[in-house]
Amino acid sequence: MKRRWFLASTVAIAVVTAGVTTACGGGQSGEQAAGDADSGSQVLTMATSADYPPYEFVETAGGTEEIVGFDVDIARHIAEELGYELEITNIDFNGLIPALQAGRADFVMAGMTPTEERKQNVDFSEIYYDAKQTIVFPSGGGISSAADLEGKTVGVQLGSIQEGLGQDLAEATPGMELAPLNRINEIVQELKSGRIDAAIIEDTVAAGFLANNSDLEAVEIPEEGPAGSAIAFPKDSELVDDFNQVLADMESSGLMEELIVKWFGDGAE
Ligand code: ARG
Repeated sequence: MKRRWFLASTVAIAVVTAGVTTACGGGQSGEQAAGDADSGSQVLTMATSADYPPYEFVETAGGTEEIVGFDVDIARHIAEELGYELEITNIDFNGLIPALQAGRADFVMAGMTPTEERKQNVDFSEIYYDAKQTIVFPSGGGISSAADLEGKTVGVQLGSIQEGLGQDLAEATPGMELAPLNRINEIVQELKSGRIDAAIIEDTVAAGFLANNSDLEAVEIPEEGPAGSAIAFPKDSELVDDFNQVLADMESSGLMEELIVKWFGDGAE
């Protein structure tokens, strides 16, 4: 499954739809697809945890606050293709699956990894992007592998696979303590102020924080656990097949590749 979406190398006409706002509510065929949380309208509600650049984050430039990112572009495109308007709600990562279960959202895009445990409670699309894990630490912290976390306090996002990985590492590493926090920004702040010694963060997200914080560095940790991002839905949602179809179209048209380059840069493989 490694970076499967990168297989698409041709950039096709579909690319022009990127960035176009989803103002399609009025002109639709009138067909109401299942999974619509707000009956009578054609709005799909996406829940996310907008603390995860470049997947999703709050853009404050221009005086307004807007949630943008790789996941948001994908979601907008899918909603447009399927004839919905899109609404986005921003909640803590740990609350995303409960929100789906409670019917407060139609789907979640949050760089979320489709783990076996989560699959018991929600359904997932195909994986649309893959990732690796890194340890982030203050420059000069001398961490070159997970073994160096001995005696260290390590931040992770509450409810993430990084928390699970951290728990496994803590069991095998003497004196390592885990500090689960709600938001990635908090983790970065705690690191910079020295209240925690290290953090486990996904490679592409860590790269963004490193680019803006020269006092931090990172090392990749090999691990064979689940990785990558997929879209989550309430169990048995009829949206899953439709979303998978659009994801497949995005891959073959080159639009997915275009968005990867837009958000992760030319060097993204
Ligand atoms: N991929 C990891 C997981 O699924 C972390 C995702 C965190 N996402 C976020 N928007 N904060 O557990």
